[in-house]
Amino acid sequence: MCGIVGAVAGRNVVPILIEGLRKLEYRGYDSAGLATLNGRIDRVRAVGRVADLAARASEAHADAPTGIAHTRWATHGGVTESNAHPHYSSGDGFEVCVVHNGIIENHEALRRQLRAEGYEFQSDTDTEVIAHQLHHHVKAGASLFEAVRLTVAQLDGAYAIAAISSKQPGTVVGSRRGSPLLLGIGNGGSGKGENFLASDTSALLQVTRHVSYLEEGDVVEIRADGYTIADADGKPAERPIVESQISADSIELGNYDHYMQKEIFEQPGAIANTLEMLANASAISPGLFGADAAEVFGRTHQILIIACGTSYHAGLVAKYWIESIAGLPVNVEIASEYRYRDSVSLPGTLVVTISQSGETADTLAALQHAKTQGLRDTLTICNVPESALIRQSKLRFLTRAGPEIGVASTKAFTTQLASLFVLSLVLAKERGRLGAERERELLQQLRHLPAAMNRVLECEDAVKEWAASFAKKENALFLGRGVHYPIAMEGALKLKEITYIHAEAYAAGELKHGPLALVDQDMPVVVVAPKDSLIEKLKSNLQEVRARGGELFIFADRDTHIEPADGVHVINLVDHAGVLSPILHVVPLQLLSYHAALARGTDVDKPRNLAKSVTVE
Ligand code: M6R
Repeated sequence: MCGIVGAVAGRNVVPILIEGLRKLEYRGYDSAGLATLNGRIDRVRAVGRVADLAARASEAHADAPTGIAHTRWATHGGVTESNAHPHYSSGDGFEVCVVHNGIIENHEALRRQLRAEGYEFQSDTDTEVIAHQLHHHVKAGASLFEAVRLTVAQLDGAYAIAAISSKQPGTVVGSRRGSPLLLGIGNGGSGKGENFLASDTSALLQVTRHVSYLEEGDVVEIRADGYTIADADGKPAERPIVESQISADSIELGNYDHYMQKEIFEQPGAIANTLEMLANASAISPGLFGADAAEVFGRTHQILIIACGTSYHAGLVAKYWIESIAGLPVNVEIASEYRYRDSVSLPGTLVVTISQSGETADTLAALQHAKTQGLRDTLTICNVPESALIRQSKLRFLTRAGPEIGVASTKAFTTQLASLFVLSLVLAKERGRLGAERERELLQQLRHLPAAMNRVLECEDAVKEWAASFAKKENALFLGRGVHYPIAMEGALKLKEITYIHAEAYAAGELKHGPLALVDQDMPVVVVAPKDSLIEKLKSNLQEVRARGGELFIFADRDTHIEPADGVHVINLVDHAGVLSPILHVVPLQLLSYHAALARGTDVDKPRNLAKSVTVE
């Protein structure tokens, strides 16, 4: 979603701001802007791509040692230049500008108040109230730092902001609550010469690897000669400086055409990295999830999994695994539903959140909600080491997928599944349901996964051929059974996200309870057909589709003996993964969506209306 970059240096910061925004493009946005401070404030904004902003900045000869920049994903107010950030306030001989991620829930009340004071609004955004409120406090004599402190105290909702004032050259002040903001410490981590702010480390790798993650309510001032942080109570604070391990290469496209394609093909490596600690182990232990895990797992009687989108689908797969392997009851909840639902909280519940970004607003709020219901045992499975979910959970397991840039989640999903399988095994072992031999056998299957996945990826050419006919469709059904039903759901989500083809998934046994009415010769039906105990039942469901003229596209394990025929297309998966089969079966579905999207000419990595990290409700 929206992205922030801020910089103060002894050089022109415009190229740093633009490059930072480029690195944040993957999050999804519809307009961009920057403001520079060099005696006075100059603003450049553009609807469209960062490249359009860069062209305008160059026409305007933007050049200054201090600045803030933003990519906007519209929430309040349409996609227009006047709604693009930075937002501005002026009067009494000075100017203020601000960029903001998040949503200000009390913006209407503040707007009324500010209007009564004579402030005029130029945009429909909630953010503009912050600009005027800052101006109001600076006018009353506050420093920019103090004005930010006073302003954020009046805001309800989530925010990360960065602000400049013409009264205070060489200074950017930021603050955060509910949305991420980090400090980039320049000049080899000394902070002497230049310092930065950003909503995401990747924006700053061009200038520094030394970063400090701000905490809830922190206010930070950056100058060329250093920085100052105050905590939510206004007390001076120090935050640990870490050296980011993100490799600059991992956010480059390399030889691939799209990040989604790169990330699909990175999956064998991502899974191997995630499971690295098991490479030579003959046994697993709760310690993989944190120092307190043995104690927590010992008092766990049921599990509540909370997540959104693709991560929710990973949770649904985990329900099948944990219930069958560990014998623990599992509930899986969509975060945006759970947070507002009257639910029954049972003692002995372990709350498991799953998230690629660790910053998804609904998942974070659902975790807080669970805590207020008295559920204190929390575990997150997350891809971003310093994210809010990691910080707010008692136990954690990192998926080591590396940065995922494509909006459509791929490698995050399969690494989440691998991690959840490890969790199932640890829980089973703690409950005395996993014998040593079975443990060795399952660990061996886990280790084999990267190789098996490499072989599955070989089906790309065959999938490409299907994609050509798929691209012409406007509707599709996806079918699966058992633990592969959530895989069918994930396949349908991928297809609709990036091809805009309407797709729905059903448990194949549900077909005759309604959806069969949709099936005719124009309805492609994609089927996940592993060789498992339900395969014969699934074959009967496929007969039901064929009898109504539906065209079947089946991804089958080779020993299911499903043969191609008129209206029945089959791609055989060459390797098996036993109980881990869902992790392999999702891969061809990812490839199908990717190639169908290419054939339809959609923007694969940045599908319309979507953002990578959904940091607002
Ligand atoms: O970062 P998270 O895993 O918490 O994100 C959750 C969803 O927003 C995400 O999985 C979304 O559904 C993806 N775009 C799916 O490809």
